[in-house]
Amino acid sequence: MKRLKTTLLMLASLFVTATAWSAPIEIKFSHVVAENTPKGQMALKFKELAEARLPGQVEVKVYPNSQLYTDAAVLQALQLGDVEIAAPALSKFQKYNAQLQVFDLPFLFNDMAAVDRFQKGPQGQKLLNSMTSKMLVGLGYLHNGMKQLSSNDPIRVPSDIAGKKFRIMTSDVLQAQYEAVHAIPLKKPFAEVFTLLQTRAIDGQESPWSNTYASKFFEVQSYVTETNHGLLDYLVVTSAEFWYGLPDGVRATLKQSMDEAIAYGNEIAARQDLEDRQHIIDSGKTKVITITDAERQQWVDAMKPVWKMFEDEIGSDLLDAALQSNQQ
Ligand code: LMR
Repeated sequence: MKRLKTTLLMLASLFVTATAWSAPIEIKFSHVVAENTPKGQMALKFKELAEARLPGQVEVKVYPNSQLYTDAAVLQALQLGDVEIAAPALSKFQKYNAQLQVFDLPFLFNDMAAVDRFQKGPQGQKLLNSMTSKMLVGLGYLHNGMKQLSSNDPIRVPSDIAGKKFRIMTSDVLQAQYEAVHAIPLKKPFAEVFTLLQTRAIDGQESPWSNTYASKFFEVQSYVTETNHGLLDYLVVTSAEFWYGLPDGVRATLKQSMDEAIAYGNEIAARQDLEDRQHIIDSGKTKVITITDAERQQWVDAMKPVWKMFEDEIGSDLLDAALQSNQQ
């Protein structure tokens, strides 16, 4: 009887170990935007590819719309091991690596092709792994697009926004950019922007077309001015502890799945930029203002001095490499 009991106990403990061994690795992917955006679609594609290639080994849980964390909180949550993947805008990394501020400089990149060249080049790639001492590992860049200004009032030239309150991401470069045109920048989480606009606590905001459309900012803003003055792209990021703790084969498959999901997200970003611009025009709720070259030049002249203010923190070699990417 005693022997039977011991055998049963051993079998039970083996079962518990086997169950624990075979439990899938949970990968929480937290982000702040809607599912019908390039980032939302990329996250779902990553889930689809990773789970199909590692059946029963991984389970990817995607949390959109700041359901789990705001961007400010998610980077700390990654470091603490409370979440495994995030993709905050590059503007949100300045306290982890000030060099990443290069992506926020106004009127630096001529277009998304130049951004792509810079990100794929040696300096761009080096930045991906520049925060491992802070336990953050960059898995890749994801595009959204160039930012436009939305507002309650028509905007054509810098003096039109003097004294007006604009929501910005947590970036000192963006703060300096608005101060350069005598506007009032307010650093606020993305999740609060719609309400701030709706209640008129702020006058405007800057986003690529897909965010202005998907988050319905256009429904509470009368004008969008097509300035293409800056970039909103993302860094897909994980924690070093999680990433390097994975079995080699799992890590390689996840990286492959992420590379493909990013390529998919980038295709969507390029397409959606044009489509969502058109959706906003078609809605009839917001007037899209196209500025002249001379008007655009006024923005460039007013905002470009911001480059000099951040050159030391960013490094002139990085700045030169970014400028160089406009050449090809
Ligand atoms: C923002 O805060 O405006 C952006 O980071 C939102 C996004 O696209 O993730």
